[in-house]
Amino acid sequence: MEPWLIALITILCCVTLPMVFLKLYILLTARWNYSPVCLVGKTAIVTGSNIGIGYYTALDFAKRGAKVILACRNAAKAEEAKLKIIEATGNNNVIVKIVDLSSLSSVRTFAKDVNETEDRLDILVNNAGAGCTDHCYTADGLSMSMQINHFGPFLLTMLLIDLLKKSAPSRIVTVSSSAASVGRINVNNLNAPSRIFTNMFDYANVKLCNLLFTVELAQKLVGTGVTANVLHPGMVKSDFLKDTPTFVTKLISIAMKLFYKSTEAGAQTSVYVAISKDLKGVSGKYFAECAYTTLPRLAEDRALAKVLWNKSEEFVKLTVDEKQNYPFTIK
Ligand SMILES: *[C@@H]1O[C@H](CO)[C@@H](O)[C@H](O)[C@H]1NC(C)=O
Ligand SMILES: *[C@@H]1O[C@H](CO)[C@@H](O)[C@H](O)[C@H]1NC(C)=O
Repeated sequence: MEPWLIALITILCCVTLPMVFLKLYILLTARWNYSPVCLVGKTAIVTGSNIGIGYYTALDFAKRGAKVILACRNAAKAEEAKLKIIEATGNNNVIVKIVDLSSLSSVRTFAKDVNETEDRLDILVNNAGAGCTDHCYTADGLSMSMQINHFGPFLLTMLLIDLLKKSAPSRIVTVSSSAASVGRINVNNLNAPSRIFTNMFDYANVKLCNLLFTVELAQKLVGTGVTANVLHPGMVKSDFLKDTPTFVTKLISIAMKLFYKSTEAGAQTSVYVAISKDLKGVSGKYFAECAYTTLPRLAEDRALAKVLWNKSEEFVKLTVDEKQNYPFTIK
């Protein structure tokens, strides 16, 4: 056989076929949420909802008649998303409130505003996240990646729990990622980046924090009528790596464009976990493709979860007053 022919066949077998299978796999396993749930009279907050999965999650809630609070950092982009949602759904009850998860004071201001102006909160979707790679620190002295993906949402949830509890049955939904299964947490070094392959592993680590946080939160919320669940949205086209142009992230971005599912498809599990009647009272569980999935072993380490919890309280400087809003007696 001609050498060029052999080369061609090799490329076909080793590169193209796996790609085709990956594409088929992603297409065939993507599930849609068909829960016929009406949300009139309910209020939902979705963080990072001006774009991507968050946008389609907010859009879905608005279609169902909910009051939707778009909790975003960029006012102009959020207003634009709001108008699009109102136009698409005819639901005028969509509002923008500004929050920057990389700032503890911004989260506190946001939570205070919501707590004072809203009578109820039925759904909180901790959707916003970022695949930061620069190991920069925020004005609060926290690792940017940890603060946006874990400390910020942790504080936000703590400060809104009172309102969620008053509105029970209510749900807290946190968007993690299957990347969490390769995450490792060094509790003595929570605020520092990992040393190996830094960026991707940092992302895995913060996403593991989302899982541990949810498992512990669900335990603490037993008996309050508030549930906490976490999910992997699937392999979704997203621009969360756009600020981190390294060789690896560029390759991933190209793969995303070619193979990953749409952001609308990516919002399905968030919506399912937030509203499905099948999940009444279900808490502390992990979902993917609108179904239960298994937590990675490390995420079930309750001792680790408790340490992470306590350290998170310290890092976000939770005050005694703020702790008084805890729904649970501090055990
Ligand atoms: C929320 O408001 C209630 C009173 O309506 C208050 O008791 C509580 O401390 C507030 N919580 C936060 C986190 O501001
Ligand atoms: C966490 O903090 C609480 C008190 O705030 C304490 O009782 C508990 O022992 C701590 N747990 C761990 C694992 O550090």
